[in-house]
Amino acid sequence: MTAHPAKIVVVGNEKGGSGKTTVAMHLAIGLLRRGVALGTVDLDSHQQSLSRYLGNRRIWCRDNAVSLVLPEHRLIEASSQDSRSAAYRQDLQSLNDGLAALGDRCDVILLDCPAGDGALSRAAHSLADVLVTPLNDSFVDLDPLLQFRPGNLQVLALGSYFRMLWELRNERHRDGRPAFDWIVLRNRLSGLADQNKRTLTHILGKVAPIMRFRLAAGLGERIIFRQLFQQGLTLFDIDEPGTSFPSTHSHEAARNELGVLLDVLCGNGLATDDALVGLTQAE
Ligand SMILES: Nc1ncnc2c1ncn2[C@@H]1O[C@H](COP(=O)(O)OP(=O)(O)OP(=O)(O)O)[C@@H](O)[C@H]1O
Ligand SMILES: [Mg+2]
Repeated sequence: MTAHPAKIVVVGNEKGGSGKTTVAMHLAIGLLRRGVALGTVDLDSHQQSLSRYLGNRRIWCRDNAVSLVLPEHRLIEASSQDSRSAAYRQDLQSLNDGLAALGDRCDVILLDCPAGDGALSRAAHSLADVLVTPLNDSFVDLDPLLQFRPGNLQVLALGSYFRMLWELRNERHRDGRPAFDWIVLRNRLSGLADQNKRTLTHILGKVAPIMRFRLAAGLGERIIFRQLFQQGLTLFDIDEPGTSFPSTHSHEAARNELGVLLDVLCGNGLATDDALVGLTQAE
């Protein structure tokens, strides 16, 4: 395997629509604005959402004669090989080539994964130094991590995504490589202290130390996240001259929530809740 001097941050979750691209874009722009030499890689060659987001930003800047930070960016095409192992080898090679091309100039390379358990996503997870997993605040989103017995909070089985992460952790351990730092970020949190939110807070707090992830303070459900894509903007840009989004209390709060995550990534702060103890693992 190629050694990359750059730190690899993977934004991944097997579950679709959890906010991977939204979070990846915000982390990328936030880190660039903190002076990090950052490159981005889009592994979703089908939807290409991160590439489209950055493309919108380029066009919007040009049309409005505004200069905003942009990362050096690569889109990696997924292998079309039929065999899963051949696809995995080819994807790992394409990914390594893409990372090597960025590696000389970047201190951090941020990868936006597609949903699903494709070979390219697995290859990216295998290379992560840091894995950020946005997680929508619902049981159907939790299912690929942990499955519960209907009617109570007893763990029934490990979910498919967590099993993949567990395998990769074991592979790394066998290869003498350090474990990745796994940060789970709750997303689209309700503004209300409802029963669902309380239950998920309880569960995630309990399982974090067992599943070995750090629980970052989450992002609230905010309309602004659905609007920014069209101009290629992020919450870190909205007070830039020429941008049309007013700075409101809600935008400020959302930016602060993302700032906490950036602090976590930069190693300056952490919002964990490991005070809760052991769920039972069913037979
Ligand atoms: N905190 C939030 N508040 C409101 N809407 C959000 C928030 N985060 C993400 N969204 C919206 O949720 C949808 C899914 O987000 P996004 O495309 O980032 O997810 P994804 O995990 O990258 O999806 P995919 O699995 O398809 O790649 C989008 O409409 C996005 O605007
Ligand atoms: Mg996406």
